[in-house]
Amino acid sequence: MAAVLDSVRAFFAPNPTFTIGAETPADVVARENLLDRAMGPDRRLKSSEKIRRGRVPAEGLALVARDTAGHVIATVRLWNIEAGISPDGQPIEALLLGPLAVDSAHEGKGIGGALMRAAVTEARGRGHGAILLVGDSAYYERFGFFADKTRHLVMPGPFERSRFLALELKAGWLEGAAGMIVPSGRKLA
Ligand SMILES: CC(C)(COP(=O)(O)OP(=O)(O)OC[C@H]1O[C@@H](n2cnc3c(N)ncnc32)[C@H](O)[C@@H]1OP(=O)(O)O)[C@@H](O)C(=O)NCCC(=O)NCCS
Repeated sequence: MAAVLDSVRAFFAPNPTFTIGAETPADVVARENLLDRAMGPDRRLKSSEKIRRGRVPAEGLALVARDTAGHVIATVRLWNIEAGISPDGQPIEALLLGPLAVDSAHEGKGIGGALMRAAVTEARGRGHGAILLVGDSAYYERFGFFADKTRHLVMPGPFERSRFLALELKAGWLEGAAGMIVPSGRKLA
């Protein structure tokens, strides 16, 4: 029944006002300007930034939303990390999501949500086990992110525990995960 309803909704949906796709090198300036506007100059002081600095995003997981003219109006990137170690001492590969930002002129149109769902789908399709992030739980819980999965993990710097959230893409992936988040992605050339 749900599938039928979805196809009916899709059939009657108005023309989309944005599209989601992979970020390209030509998008970098627009993305950085968007992040400066959306998050302010302090964005580079965040603990998450320590994990991103000097690294490239996880393969296939730098996404943008574009308006009908092709301008970048939203961005999200995910990064390879080790989310502490398992009870038997093995590093746990996972992803850190962020930053997510939508141009203020386009907020409240479902673009952030669409970008989140696209990122989660792509990460799952690529076989990743879990996604972590630091953000407002009131926003991210709707996508399945909760703080209970990170309770024995720490960021490499100050963070609010109630904002340190995770979504398991494979059941039990973060079971017993403990320790510090460290970057494990490819370094920038
Ligand atoms: C947060 C952000 C990504 C949301 O993007 P968006 O495209 O406006 O989001 P959507 O249209 O998919 O969803 C809008 C809904 O999310 C809610 N929402 C937005 N930000 C929220 C927050 N921080 N906490 C709780 N709810 C939030 C809105 O109230 C709205 O609720 P409704 O559907 O009940 O009306 C965007 O506002 C943004 O870029 N903000 C500045 C950068 C930022 O703070 N990024 C990190 C987020 S912690």
